[in-house]
This record gives sequence, structure tokens and C-alpha cells, in this order.
Amino acid sequence: MRRYLRVLILCLACGFCSLLYAISQLAVSLEEGAAGGGGKPQAAVASWLAASGRGAERGAGPASGAGLLDRYNLKIQPIEKMHLAVVACGERLEETMTMLKSALIFSIKPLQFHIFAEDQLHDSFKARLDSWSFLQTFNYTIYPITFPSENAAEWKKLFKPCASQRLFLPSILKEVDSLLYVDTDILFLRPVDDIWSLLKKFNSTQIAAMAPEHEEPRIGWYNRFARHPYYGKTGVNSGVMLMNMTRMRKKYFKNDMTTVRLQWGDILMPLLKKYKLNITWGDQDLLNIMFFHNPESLFVFPCQWNYRPDHCIYGSNCREAEEEGIFILHGNRGVYHDDKQPAFRAVYEALRNCSFEDYNVHSLLKPLELELQKTVHTYCGKIYKIFIKQLTKSIRDHYDRPSKER
Ligand SMILES: *[C@@H]1O[C@H](CO)[C@@H](O)[C@H](O)[C@H]1NC(C)=O
Ligand SMILES: *[C@@H]1O[C@H](CO)[C@@H](O)[C@H](O)[C@H]1NC(C)=O
Ligand SMILES: *[C@@H]1O[C@H](CO)[C@@H](O)[C@H](O)[C@H]1NC(C)=O
Ligand SMILES: *[C@@H]1O[C@H](CO)[C@@H](O)[C@H](O)[C@H]1NC(C)=O
Ligand SMILES: *[C@@H]1O[C@H](CO)[C@@H](O)[C@H](O)[C@H]1NC(C)=O
Repeated sequence: MRRYLRVLILCLACGFCSLLYAISQLAVSLEEGAAGGGGKPQAAVASWLAASGRGAERGAGPASGAGLLDRYNLKIQPIEKMHLAVVACGERLEETMTMLKSALIFSIKPLQFHIFAEDQLHDSFKARLDSWSFLQTFNYTIYPITFPSENAAEWKKLFKPCASQRLFLPSILKEVDSLLYVDTDILFLRPVDDIWSLLKKFNSTQIAAMAPEHEEPRIGWYNRFARHPYYGKTGVNSGVMLMNMTRMRKKYFKNDMTTVRLQWGDILMPLLKKYKLNITWGDQDLLNIMFFHNPESLFVFPCQWNYRPDHCIYGSNCREAEEEGIFILHGNRGVYHDDKQPAFRAVYEALRNCSFEDYNVHSLLKPLELELQKTVHTYCGKIYKIFIKQLTKSIRDHYDRPSKER
């Protein structure tokens, strides 16, 4: 009698699983149909929920009832997307693709890429991104570089071509609540989810987050050379900038041009007019001036979220990175492409070399460590372990994840 009961329960359980499977398949096919019909040609049709490819590769067996239940639940609750913006001009295609790859490798929530690029780069971006569409964990839109029509020429020649595009993101991406802006020479060594979660740590007056430009005032640039106001002791670096754009669009900013407060969209031009002869690093200087006058609006995150050669070329000065490893690497001054800082270049090449197709993230660590060991004659190479500390952990977590999700 007991045996029959067991068989009956087993049958019921199987039936239940099949039903869930059928429902999830139906939902997936409905979604694919909808996306195929309405999608713009340049938007990769990518649905996080249909992430069977990646899930299987990570070891989440397709026959696992619990896995399906998870996916089924995810379907009912809309998943928050993380928005990542980058501005690419000139010879930055490969570098940008490596940055985007590093974002995709470890991240958990789906990503929406906003890629601003010169027209001649659009086709290459599209081809490269479409070749990753099997990942189904991201979606992208490519935009032309645009500036406000009055004074477009002036904005274009500020600092580097296109760099000041980022100042206009809150007005261009009107529908987007929050955004992570990064330079093309950024590499994520841990999930984007982790920096994204800092948005929830903003207090009521904070609208954006950046890292200090320097940890060590003796080698700081702003405190020694700037001919304009700047945030805090050493200024801030805008290469990794997390923004709550809803708040940026709403806020009225104190400034030193008029006695009335101005909104983001109205403050930029007067600021450029007033300071254009005194600024050196273009839009980053304008951001520094803005947050000098509105310091309560900035959330400052530690240097390991924006780790640059300045943090090690004359000796290590980013304590947080020494303790926990580098979270986001920023190879500014072209160090991924010359021989000045081989430790930075080694990490870049390891990530550039690894491909999603063979999904060999594990196998990048050993050769990378060997490359890094060749750099110990440099100050940055001496502390090479901090370049792989977090990366090693991220790779481990990445492979552990399917079992944790269940
Ligand atoms: C992908 O992005 C496009 C344009 O930004 C949007 O219309 C579409 O709904 C998105 N698709 C998914 C599956 O998120
Ligand atoms: C620009 O720099 C000069 C020289 O340091 C200084 O006298 C001037 O006040 C600065 N202009 C502004 C708008 O701060
Ligand atoms: C951004 O700020 C707005 C207004 O305060 C808030 O409603 C929204 O939840 C914030 N976004 C995030 C991701 O925290
Ligand atoms: C939010 O944090 C900033 C920076 O620590 C601070 O200046 C500001 O006063 C805080 N705002 C509130 C409302 O506590
Ligand atoms: C990356 O690939 C290049 C050429 O394909 C090779 O020379 C280099 O050693 C590789 N670097 C790493 C860190 O794997």
C-alpha cells in the first residue's frame, strides 16, 4: 500500500514539473515572438529569462525542477536591468568590446548597453555584439554622438573628441532612471551588480558617485595645478561614474555664475563659457566644479572601484585595493597598449583573449599570473597579487553560482 502511495506522489511531482516546464516554454516563445516583431534592427533580441544557453553551461541542469521554478518566479517579477553607457571614438572598438565582455562575464542581472559611437564604428559594434547574442543576458542600443545644436563645435573639441558626450546623458537617455557611465579603458573584475548596488546606498541628497582622483595629495593633480574649483581634497575622477539620473534631472544646482540655482541641462553651457580657458581635463573638470558647489550630492566610493596607474606607479597608495583587491581596473594614459605599465596590459590582454565561445574563464588565471610575475620590476607589478585577488574570487563565484541559486 505504501509503495503505491509513493508511486502516486512521484507521478504527481513529475506531472507538476512538466506543467511548469510547459508554462515556461510557452512564456519564452511568446516573448520571442513579441521581441522579433517589435524590435529595432540594431537591438539584439536578448531575454535574460530565456537564458538556457548560459544556464546549462553553468551547470544548471535543464531537467532540474527547482531551476525551472526559479526561472518561472523570475518571470512574474520584472527584473531590474542595469544600464551601462560608454562613449567610443577613434580607435576604441577593441578596447570597448573588452570592457563590455568583462561586464558580461561576471554580472548576474541583465545589462542594457548604451553605446555612443562615431558613425563609422556603428557597423563593427553591431556585428561584434550580435555575435554574442546567444548569451541572452544583455541588450544594446547604438547612438550617434550628438551635442546641443548651439555650440556643438565647442563641446566637440573640449578635451578629447566625444569625451564631453557623457555630460549630456541625463538629457539624452530621458527614460533611464539610473546609469553607470564608464570610459572605454575600464575592466570589470567583479559583477556590475556590485557597483550598481551602491545606488541603494545613496542618501537623500546624493545623485552621483565617483572615486577620488588621487589618494596621495603629494602627487595629486588638481590640488597642485588646477585653476578652477574642484571637489574635496584631490578632486574626483569621472572614468567610472554611477548616476541616479532621475535625481540629476530634478536637482537645482548651486553655482558661481548666477544667484539662482540651475538644472543640469541649463548649467553646462554657462559653466563651459566661464571656465573654458582654465580647464585641462575637459568634462571631468566641469564635474569637479559642479560638485565643488554641491558637495552634498556626491557619493564618493573607494579607489578599488576605479583603480588607475596613479595608484601604484610611484608606490602603492590605494589601501582598499591592497586589502580586498582591485574591483574595477582603469587603464588610462593608454597603458593597455604600450609597455609603460605591463601589469595593466597583462590583465587587459588576458580578458581580450578569452572568448565566450569556449567559455574558458577559468583558464585565463594561470597564464595571467605568469604574465604578471614578469612585471615585478615595476612598482605596479610588485603588488601584482591585488590585480588577480578579486578576479580569482569572481571566477570562483561565477562557477559556484548555479548551485547557490537553487
Ligand atoms: C532591447 O532594447 C530595445 C531598444 O532599446 C527595446 O526596444 C527592447 O524592448 C529591448 N529588448 C529586451 C528583450 O529587453
Ligand atoms: C583662470 O585662471 C586664472 C589664472 O590662474 C585666474 O586668475 C582666473 O580667476 C581663473 N578664472 C576663473 C573663471 O576661475
Ligand atoms: C533614483 O532616485 C529616484 C528619486 O529619488 C528614486 O525613485 C529611484 O528609486 C532611484 N533609483 C535607484 C536605482 O535607486
Ligand atoms: C549625504 O551624504 C553627503 C556626503 O557624505 C553629505 O554631505 C550630505 O549632507 C548627506 N545628506 C543627508 C541628507 O544626510
Ligand atoms: C593573448 O594573446 C596574444 C596573441 O594572441 C598572446 O601573445 C598573449 O600572450 C596572450 N596574453 C595572455 C595574457 O594570455
